[in-house]
This record gives sequence, structure tokens and C-alpha cells, in this order.
Amino acid sequence: MTSISGIRSAVALVALLALLYPVAAGRPALAQSDADPKQPQKHFTVARPAELTGDDAEAIYGRIQQDLVAGYRLSGEAYAAPYQRWPRYNTEPYRSAQHGERFANNYGNDKAGAYRLYERSGPMPRGAILVKDSFAVTEKGDVFSGPLFVMEKMAPGFNPESGDWRYTMIMPDGSLLGVTGGSGSDRMEFCVSCHAGVQEDQDHMFYVPPPFRLGGVQ
Ligand code: HEC
Repeated sequence: MTSISGIRSAVALVALLALLYPVAAGRPALAQSDADPKQPQKHFTVARPAELTGDDAEAIYGRIQQDLVAGYRLSGEAYAAPYQRWPRYNTEPYRSAQHGERFANNYGNDKAGAYRLYERSGPMPRGAILVKDSFAVTEKGDVFSGPLFVMEKMAPGFNPESGDWRYTMIMPDGSLLGVTGGSGSDRMEFCVSCHAGVQEDQDHMFYVPPPFRLGGVQ
């Protein structure tokens, strides 16, 4: 029997697979392609994601940054371009196992300023926005734009289960995979449940992995 919850878990599973196995949903960041950007050109799994030095990762990021933003801003989201001028809370792009083994950076807007204190940040105020941009690098050195992962603190009562955070995942071509409480909300449930697993005083935030934190704050 197909139950609603069965369908929900199937949708969540597909979304999880999409997250864990980076698909070339956008165009390759460094190569030209005339393929439809909405159609994955090929599936690829970063089986043994490239071992890059921090300098390599930073250099690749520098080359694709404008391209990444150009894709994200097609979403029309207000933060999609300005986030690049917000403080970045990691020293270099680091590989995030929880976000598809992609290389990631974490930025926060003014209201999320306490993020710099990591575990001592306390709960975030309404209007705080944290974004994580991402890219994938294959062993052969192909570089692919990755999604923009977003957490935005909403008004109290917005969604108790998510700690009133609204999760959004924007694909590299600017299309929206889902947003808590809006289109594709089901697909964001696995963000909510994983992030809810942190200690209560961390307000659903995991923070930057210690080796990549700024200013030696551990
Ligand atoms: C399996 C667990 C897991 C899932 C699923 C997950 N995350 Fe995360 N998230 C983490 C971890 C761990 C970190 C911090 C380390 C890192 O970046 O890898 C993090 C960090 C973040 C951050 C930076 C703020 C913070 O918590 O420090 C954002 C923004 C974010 N995730 C958004 C999302 C969105 C949006 C989704 C769903 C599309 C999602 N995450 C799914 C585990 C997860």
C-alpha cells in the first residue's frame, strides 16, 4: 500500500541522493557547453574527491566565484549575489561530506554576526541568514558548480520543527530545489532533521569544522 508517508520518504530519499551524489546540474564551471543547463549532462559521483591543498581549493574558487553567483542570482533571491560581500567564516573552501562531498564556504549576513563565535553564538535573531556555496572537483580536475544551501531565521512560530529556520537549496542554474514552507518543502525535510540533531543551545547550527575556523576560535 502506498501511503502518504511512503511517498514523502521516497521524495526525501530522492532529495537525499541528489544531495549526496553531486550531479552536473549546472554547466561545468570552467568549460563551455551548449547543453541545456536544466538537464544534467552526465551523472558523476565524486568517488574519491580530489585531494586539494587549501591554496588549490582557494584558487579554483577564485576562478569560478563569478560564475557561481551568476547562476544563483537567476533564482531572484535577494541574498543570492550580495552574500559574496558578507563575512566568510572558513579559512579556505573545505570538503563537506554532509553536502555531497562538495567544497563549501560559509557566509553570514550582519544579523548572523554571532556565527563568528561558533558554538558560543547563542540562538540567531530573526533575519539572520547563513549561506553555503559549493563546487565539486573530480579527480580529473573537472570543476562543477554546486548548489547554494541557505538557512534563514524566520519569525517565532514559523516552523517549530526547524527551530524557525527556513532551509532553501538553489541549484547552480538558479532553479529552486525546495524551500521550507514553500515549493518543494518536503525535499528540505532532511536538512531540517539532520540540523535538528545538534545540541539544543546550538540553534540547529553545526558551524564550520574546527580546522577551517577563523582566528583560532575553536
Ligand atoms: C546529514 C546531515 C546534514 C544534512 C542532510 C544537511 N546538512 Fe547542512 N550542515 C551539516 C553540517 C555537519 C554542517 C557544518 C559542516 C559542513 O559544512 O559540512 C552544515 C552546515 C550548513 C550550513 C551553515 C550553517 C551551519 O549549520 O553551521 C548551512 C547554511 C546548511 N548546512 C544548509 C543545509 C541545507 C539547506 C540542507 C538541505 C538541502 C542541509 N544543510 C542538509 C549537516 C547537514
